[in-house]
Amino acid sequence: MQVIAEIAPLRDQILQWRREGQRIAFVPTMGHLHDGHLTLVRKARENADVVVVSIFVNPMQFDKNDDLVAYPRTLEEDTAKLHAEAIDVLFTPSADVMYPQGMDNHVSIEVPSLSNILEGASRPGHFKGVATVVSKLFNIVQPDVALFGEKDFQQLAVINKMVADLALPIAIVPVPTVREMDGLAMSSRNSRLTVDERQRAPVLAKTLRWISSQMRGGRNDYSELVLDGNDQLRAAGLEPDEIFIRDAHSLQPVTEQTSKAVILASVKLGQVRLIDNLMVELTVAQTEECSEE
Ligand code: PAF
Repeated sequence: MQVIAEIAPLRDQILQWRREGQRIAFVPTMGHLHDGHLTLVRKARENADVVVVSIFVNPMQFDKNDDLVAYPRTLEEDTAKLHAEAIDVLFTPSADVMYPQGMDNHVSIEVPSLSNILEGASRPGHFKGVATVVSKLFNIVQPDVALFGEKDFQQLAVINKMVADLALPIAIVPVPTVREMDGLAMSSRNSRLTVDERQRAPVLAKTLRWISSQMRGGRNDYSELVLDGNDQLRAAGLEPDEIFIRDAHSLQPVTEQTSKAVILASVKLGQVRLIDNLMVELTVAQTEECSEE
């Protein structure tokens, strides 16, 4: 495994692979790798001849500086994990490499219909930061295929739209959320939970499963359902932030045409904000006269 921190030597390596006709898979990350990331890496290997992983804690996507400062940085452990997965290149650019003239002067990518709703409404600028860094990384790595976890559902929708609108020749492969034994979605943020918070955290996934079972059972009073879900979270000591029930393709409110919905939820547990989601297949009867949350 090569570790490359500058753009020029990475480009040389990519050029060589292209000349050899190698298919390139790419997994962008912000490090502090867990089994969810390693699942993406293994899927990447199934999809290509060579695998590139990036680790870059992208300052442009953090709306709060405290969050950026607190983000865990574990490059040594991450490098060992990727070495064990036998990836081909680990790209570890610095902020100076990615934003040589600072972030304010940098071109940015907006995905208007998706960036400022739902999670984007509570984290202004977050998805602009994600779309900008991912498009830059795509331009540097020039992968044939890139892999993203479904845990960051809205991020995946933003990337899919960006790739479609900019006609980028990259196949985006979504990978289902990897969960701990108790249902908690794996996330780099989980390591910041106290022992007590960690014990309560699975209630987020449990609440999503409960809402999903209610929907599959025919309940379509979504406003009430969201309130009931919030009550369950509060009862377990989690501070609900938002729960949305949306069409999984458009992220707009569910309509009679919706065949697959997604429940998107975020909570605060102490200093940590956790997100999770669950998709629900709907029949026509389940969406008739559904009420907007
Ligand atoms: O999901 C993440 O880790 C980040 O948002 C990404 C896609 C690596 C962009 O910085």
